Amino acid sequence: MGSAAEHEKRVAAAAAAELVENGMSVGLGTGSTVAHFVVALAARRLELRCVATSPATESAARALGLDILPFEGDHALARLDLAVDGADQVAANGWVVKGGGGALTREKVVAAAAERFVVIVSADKLVERVAPPIPLELLAFGSSSTLDRLGHARRHESPPTPDGGVLADWLGPVADPGALASTLASTAGVVDHGLFPPQLVSDVLVGRGDTVERIPGGRS
Ligand code: A5P
Repeated sequence: MGSAAEHEKRVAAAAAAELVENGMSVGLGTGSTVAHFVVALAARRLELRCVATSPATESAARALGLDILPFEGDHALARLDLAVDGADQVAANGWVVKGGGGALTREKVVAAAAERFVVIVSADKLVERVAPPIPLELLAFGSSSTLDRLGHARRHESPPTPDGGVLADWLGPVADPGALASTLASTAGVVDHGLFPPQLVSDVLVGRGDTVERIPGGRS
């Protein structure tokens, strides 16, 4: 794809690939920006141990020769040096919305496991404030009831997640992302939501034309 946004995704992804050092354990996110990152990372031919947040990323990374380890079971890595992922929205107050690609729960687990979590975006992902939709993953069991209790939420017509979850969107107001994150997290049946707090984010690398702008996150 040759759009300006696609170019900016590629530019941000290339900058993130330069952050990776030989011997690191690296979390790979999901989406079209991460697809560029995986290509740039594989081209560096480093010795790495990677984990992937989705089957799509896993197969793309393996096809390019990256070593992908399982991230479940007793012998899985407990900590990662770095995780890199895209985003749907990056707000001026540092909140990030993710999950448009349906992998939000695994993406949040991998981001939390990493010493450093770097978000890579094209400039059109920067927003003044977070707005709906906010992607949700729901437990399949009782999902109609969960949606009913949430109220402003709609089920996606997409296949279940690799963990058997149901994807949905929160469509109600997002006046206070922290308050909404707490409400969603404490709703029975919500596995996780796509609101990533500033404290989870180390840096945001924004592709802007041919250049990369670094916005420090709340974890820098
Ligand atoms: C995947 O579930 C998402 O969190 C993506 O990281 C997000 O939707 C950004 O996707 P693109 O890189 O394709 O814009």
